[in-house]
Amino acid sequence: MAEKQKILVIGCGQMGSGIAQTASEHGYSVFLSDLNKDFTKQAVTQIHKRWDLGLKKGKRQKEEIDFFKSNLHTLGQDNYSGYDFIIEAVSEDEQIKKQIFEKIGQSSCKHTILGSNTSSISINTLGKASGFPERVIGIHFMNPVPIMKLVEVIEGDATSTETIQKTLNFIKNIKKTPAKSKDKPGFISNKILMPMINEAILTLESGTGSKEDIDTVMELGMRHPMGPLKLADLIGLDTCLAIMNVLYSGFKEEKYKPSGLLVEKVNNNELGRKTGIGFYKYN
Ligand SMILES: NC(=O)c1ccc[n+]([C@@H]2O[C@H](COP(=O)([O-])OP(=O)(O)OC[C@H]3O[C@@H](n4cnc5c(N)ncnc54)[C@H](O)[C@@H]3O)[C@@H](O)[C@H]2O)c1
Repeated sequence: MAEKQKILVIGCGQMGSGIAQTASEHGYSVFLSDLNKDFTKQAVTQIHKRWDLGLKKGKRQKEEIDFFKSNLHTLGQDNYSGYDFIIEAVSEDEQIKKQIFEKIGQSSCKHTILGSNTSSISINTLGKASGFPERVIGIHFMNPVPIMKLVEVIEGDATSTETIQKTLNFIKNIKKTPAKSKDKPGFISNKILMPMINEAILTLESGTGSKEDIDTVMELGMRHPMGPLKLADLIGLDTCLAIMNVLYSGFKEEKYKPSGLLVEKVNNNELGRKTGIGFYKYN
């Protein structure tokens, strides 16, 4: 049997752990790493819990779950060599991501694809930071990763054909559907979605409607599966603000200015589900 392909996921918040879960389920040997080692362990525990629940509900067989678990590992020491794919999924902060790409560019193998799950930050910038832009690509998963089918693929100017092909093969192997975007602020997805969420927050701020009514209008009136304020809480208000800032500084147009209420909530650490309070409260 061919050796399993090895993937390193850096950053195991909601997106990194979702990517790790999905890749493990499709036979990749996955390693998880985070600045905070406790988060790495917590992510593995959470993923195991989700698999065990699937078993309990009769959606999965025991052999399947054993196989998934055998594919998922935590990374002991920061060692970036020996991977087929490194996927960066840390907080949406250009400086942090640039530092990571510099590190993984220097110490990964020459065949390793360096992917970023960034929602909005330039792939050309990350490629430059790595020193190996031909191996750098945007691989933008949607939340929650195990459920959502789409992966947005962003090519930098120097991304090689081999990098693109290997990335598309990986996406196909994990049973997702790719859509390509140019390397412009917010790509396709967040150039459209995030101003809509920001507009919903401005609508709340202006007193036009309650948070419940704004979400109900969009759910029942526009057939959105989740209202924009609930979705903002799911994404994380810090991530929403970071994306709006990338759009605002990239396009330099007032329509991309983050709403005051969004800034205020982030300053108060009301980040949505991840801190238990955003526009709504969570237990
Ligand atoms: N939340 C979403 O709906 C969503 C959807 C698509 C893409 N994204 C993108 O995915 C990325 C991660 O988002 P998230 O929602 O999982 O965030 P999160 O806040 O849940 O997790 C971020 C993780 O990154 C870790 N981290 C921060 N700095 C680090 C470093 N220097 N080294 C290693 N780990 C570090 C943090 O400890 C944390 O565990 C962001 O780029 C975001 O824009 C998010």
